[in-house]
Amino acid sequence: DLDEKYNIERKKFGVVTPTDINYFKSVLSEDRVLTDESEVMPFNIDWIKNCRGQSQVVLKPKTVEEVSQILTHCNAKKLAVCPQGGNTGLVGGSVPVFDEIVLSLALMNKIISLDEISGSLVCEAGCILENLEQHAKEHNLIMPLDLGAKGTCHIGGVNNFEDILKLYRSAKLSLGEILSAFEMADAAAIDACVSSLKLTNPISSYPFYVLIETHGSNETHDSEKLGGFLEQEMASGLILDGTVSSDPNKIHAMWTLRESISTAVLLDGYVFKYDVSLPLKDYYKLVPKLKQRLGPTARRVCGYGHIGDGNIHINVSIPAYDKRTLEMLEPFIYEEVAKLDGSISAEHGIGFRKPHYIHYSKDATSLQLMKDIKQLMDPNGILNPYKVLPD
Ligand code: MLT
Ligand code: ZN
Repeated sequence: DLDEKYNIERKKFGVVTPTDINYFKSVLSEDRVLTDESEVMPFNIDWIKNCRGQSQVVLKPKTVEEVSQILTHCNAKKLAVCPQGGNTGLVGGSVPVFDEIVLSLALMNKIISLDEISGSLVCEAGCILENLEQHAKEHNLIMPLDLGAKGTCHIGGVNNFEDILKLYRSAKLSLGEILSAFEMADAAAIDACVSSLKLTNPISSYPFYVLIETHGSNETHDSEKLGGFLEQEMASGLILDGTVSSDPNKIHAMWTLRESISTAVLLDGYVFKYDVSLPLKDYYKLVPKLKQRLGPTARRVCGYGHIGDGNIHINVSIPAYDKRTLEMLEPFIYEEVAKLDGSISAEHGIGFRKPHYIHYSKDATSLQLMKDIKQLMDPNGILNPYKVLPD
């Protein structure tokens, strides 16, 4: 079904020759030029197995100078390149579409400096967030990019989406600057973790779940503040049930439940994943709408995400890929997002899957400006072609 899903033509880029391979081997050491099919394959497939490229070569530079030499050569020969980090993207942005050379940043993982006074960290592009988190922690600092930094954590069952919004406002008021995460998931999302991954839901079943985390500088004061807030909202009825902990193992278990949703839903079969942002009052609106539209076609329609930044992940699973379902979902979902003044892409980008929908979020002037900037930086268009900007 690849052709059916892709439906695009390879652009007129050069084709990698043995001379190119020899050149790459002269720049990098031999072991950092992968051409063996089985070694190259993992770099061709994204982790949700939604997109698959046909690259024959993976390059693993260690320094900026090596990257520079590779790109100078590729630009001169008009060889297309797909730069790749952790390959955890959800929109096909990180894998080649045709035979683009994969430029893996995995070995560019050095932390260059950490200024303890200004709190700024300089690192190479292939660093893994968790390693940065660990390094910052050794210096009593945190990486302020989600993840890590778990202070005190609460997971609770809240009745309907309106109550989540009320709870969010109240959390901001009561917890103020120590509120570090406010995540939501609906029953269908948590059910995927429980039934497919056999994870434990620490509370009973509810229509909606919220995970709240605080992280401040005074542990006793912070957990008192969170305790007070939870007591108040259990009394008010916004929170129906919940569990709270400062024990790192229990906090880890709560986050695992939340962060496993994406993987758990994949076990349903084929998953259409949408990463959109919407005004908070309309945050959950599309989930019931899609459920109704798809009826029994869908195995699961669920919503979960980061309330704090208006970002919801809507996942629709079916037993196996089917074009008819795709046509029921797209462009419908993007039209609805545009009507609600949302953005068709929140944290996962446009990638390969969304360029022809970008106009729902960006006007013609913005798009032209983006194209002009791309043209200026990459006149031959060799860097990650077929992604982000529509032709
Ligand atoms: C998450 O919030 O769980 C991740 O962004 C993955 C996803 O989009 O499903
Ligand atoms: Zn997310």
